[in-house]
Amino acid sequence: MSQVAFHYDPPVQLDQNLWEIKGRWKNKFGRRMTVVRLNDGRLIIHNAIQLHEDELYWLKSLGTVSFIIAPNVFHCSDLAWMSHHFPQAQCYAPAEKRKDFLDKNVDIKITEQDFPKDISEFECIYIKGTKISESVFIHHPSKTLILCDLAFNMPQVYTGLSKFFMQWNRVFRLGPTKLTRWIFTKNIGELRKSYEQLFKHDFDRVIVNHGETVNQNGKALLKAGYKEIFG
Ligand SMILES: [Fe+2]
Repeated sequence: MSQVAFHYDPPVQLDQNLWEIKGRWKNKFGRRMTVVRLNDGRLIIHNAIQLHEDELYWLKSLGTVSFIIAPNVFHCSDLAWMSHHFPQAQCYAPAEKRKDFLDKNVDIKITEQDFPKDISEFECIYIKGTKISESVFIHHPSKTLILCDLAFNMPQVYTGLSKFFMQWNRVFRLGPTKLTRWIFTKNIGELRKSYEQLFKHDFDRVIVNHGETVNQNGKALLKAGYKEIFG
């Protein structure tokens, strides 16, 4: 069995053509990889994590891995690893990371400008106004919004001072954190416009990188979290 850096849970099917793998990370935030299968059998891997052989076989059994996406500048760690296992896949990352990936011999397309616009069931939306260059995605058939760091939904895994800080930072409900606003925002007007555009789309489930997936009523909960921080 191949060695991987961090443990992860078995894949969970969330909906038709939609799966998640919840993984550990260097800290209690954890992380999540999402897999979407398009109607033509192509697979999209969002926020790749290193997998053992069993899960690599599982992926191959689902369809053809065709797209691997690093959703923002902070979550690019395992894209190159996944790309080496699926060299035929197109890889996407923010513009700022292109040189880093070229240094690793991974040819990257720029998500915000190059991601295909002709995939009817899967839409890429670039969120402007932040320092993290995150693109978010909507899988229309399952009414699912896939985010990375633009919203957290952590369980109560902290104690003591950490718990106090995380509560202040608003990580324990679906929505952006205070640090998103005070450290990672560079143009609040543009960010607000992007969120407002996002809320015009139809979605109900919200997948986040840090914390729990919200399977119902995600749009209303995300809106409430957004208003608390940016409203
Ligand atoms: Fe993150």
